[in-house]
Amino acid sequence: MEKHYAVIGTPIDHSLSPWMHNAGYKALGIDAEYQRFNVEPSHLAEAVEGLCSLGFSGWNVTLPHKEPIISLLDALTPEARRAGAVNTVKILDGQRIGHNTDGVGFVRSVQDDLKGFKGKKAVLLGAGGAAKGIALALAEQEMELHILNRTPEKASELVQAIQREGGIATSGLFAPGKWLEGVDLLVQTTSVGLHGESFPFSLKGISDQTLVVDIIVNPRETVFLQEARKQGCRTLDGSGMLLFQGVLAWEFWLGGQAPVEAMRQALKGQLMQRMFYKG
Ligand code: ATR
Repeated sequence: MEKHYAVIGTPIDHSLSPWMHNAGYKALGIDAEYQRFNVEPSHLAEAVEGLCSLGFSGWNVTLPHKEPIISLLDALTPEARRAGAVNTVKILDGQRIGHNTDGVGFVRSVQDDLKGFKGKKAVLLGAGGAAKGIALALAEQEMELHILNRTPEKASELVQAIQREGGIATSGLFAPGKWLEGVDLLVQTTSVGLHGESFPFSLKGISDQTLVVDIIVNPRETVFLQEARKQGCRTLDGSGMLLFQGVLAWEFWLGGQAPVEAMRQALKGQLMQRMFYKG
């Protein structure tokens, strides 16, 4: 086996990245293998040393290590520095380079449906780690952002981070409002809906021209997305972001173009098998 890749995190059993990447290697006849390892926070430094010693070429990083791993790396790409989080590490000439493909992965996952970003309005629900990567990547595409979060201070902090990068952003109440009428892209990044619960507020009055995305992968259609669909909006679940963060990690490691369709089919197959995913 020529090259070795992995994903580290805890819990890790749910990770679909091995299927996605291994299907990609197979499609292009690349001699490589992708594994997943459960790594507890207290063992992160040892795990990173171990992966380096064992000759891994790179690895993905998932919760809860996306921020703590930064102190164990030699350099960060602009995407990782901006997000303050790493989801992809590459070993380059013995150096550990931290990168982040979550935000741009999200951008890639909506670009066909949104047809252009510049000057359009995006509303983000939530201001946690996931929202930050997405918000900064959308701001870089010159979208105008409005961030709504239950804890307003966190929304304000994210707005400031976007403004420091030269982006346009405001924050507002975590509630329905006039924003519903003029939003091009609405992104649900909170954990509400992971367990089938309904969203704290209604989307009544939303423009049916809005593309509505919930980054939750399972359940595939959250109550939030169901409501958006009932209001006539186009909707996307979180599987596109998952696919494209993997596609971009692949391309960061191996160069060239990842076999997107093979990776998409592998991901879909696993989702259907594990989550009684329909479609
Ligand atoms: P992640 O990295 O997945 O984004 P996180 O950083 O813990 O996770 O952020 C979780 C997000 O979900 C936050 O925006 C959080 O809002 P607060 O900042 O007010 O905590 C949001 N969230 C979680 N539960 C929520 C709920 N019941 N209602 C509204 N927002 C909620």
